[in-house]
Amino acid sequence: MLRGRDVLTALDLSREDFEEIFAAADEVIARGRSQLNLMRGKIMATAFFEPSTRTRLSFQTAMMRLGGEVIDLGEVEKSSIAKGENLSDTVRMLDAYSDVIVIRHRLEGAAKLAAEVAENPVINAGDGSRNHPTQAMIDLYAIRRFRGGIDGLTIGVMGDLKYGRATNSLIMALTKFEVEKIYLISPPQLKLRQETRELLADSGVEFEEVENLEKVISELDVLYASRIQKERFPDPSEYELVKGSYVITPENLRNAKEDLVILHPLPRVDEIDFRVDSLPCAKYFEQAKLGVPVRMALLKLILGG
Ligand code: NCD
Repeated sequence: MLRGRDVLTALDLSREDFEEIFAAADEVIARGRSQLNLMRGKIMATAFFEPSTRTRLSFQTAMMRLGGEVIDLGEVEKSSIAKGENLSDTVRMLDAYSDVIVIRHRLEGAAKLAAEVAENPVINAGDGSRNHPTQAMIDLYAIRRFRGGIDGLTIGVMGDLKYGRATNSLIMALTKFEVEKIYLISPPQLKLRQETRELLADSGVEFEEVENLEKVISELDVLYASRIQKERFPDPSEYELVKGSYVITPENLRNAKEDLVILHPLPRVDEIDFRVDSLPCAKYFEQAKLGVPVRMALLKLILGG
């Protein structure tokens, strides 16, 4: 189903697509290292026009663990973009040299533009404030793994719901499942973007916007936290107003369910107190590790390993 396809937004993925990826990731984990030759002779190009640690390195690790090879555009300042080359021409070349392109960009729509230019599949590794579909795959896979499934859960999505592409993409992906309820937890200035709220309303998923974690913590099966996307604020003084406005601490988790799972796409800045890291509910580092098997599964399905 995913063979040869571009992955641009979580909205393009059906529940069946997600389930196909989850099953393939299960298989990747079960097979361990015995899949080193699946992508032999294939090349993945990574082009990251914005900072990244997990997404870039886990994509590269995934391709290498499958026996494929990786080329990386490297720092934009050292590529021909510094000479004034436009995005389409850069993508055209990456497409000529590789079998799949993984792109991250500051501007929404950059991955779509790349997909229009490239003949080979393009994977959006995050562009602008809305789309980060492979993060949503990892997040749902983590929920399924740590909670045994997705349907029927009450999920709190907390933090920057305005500029966060991870939170917005997770919410888009959750509309494909039968969750019990989504709590949108944020200060008023970071409330969920209108387009995503409309999507949620149209999907029929029950949701409620709240400002205070303590008010809903006892109901949550999963709490998904996120960083304030400082770099996307048009006005730095707007950021100063919300900086540090929410933080998860052992104290405000007092009334949480015993089997609560806390996730975060990372990087964390100050929204999760370090003391939370040693609690059994803290699953965000394990979640980040799942980035490799999930991206291996995706590359296998897209490239047909
Ligand atoms: C996220 C991103 O880049 O959107 N990071 C990631 O891919 N794990 C979230 C963030 O930067 O806050």
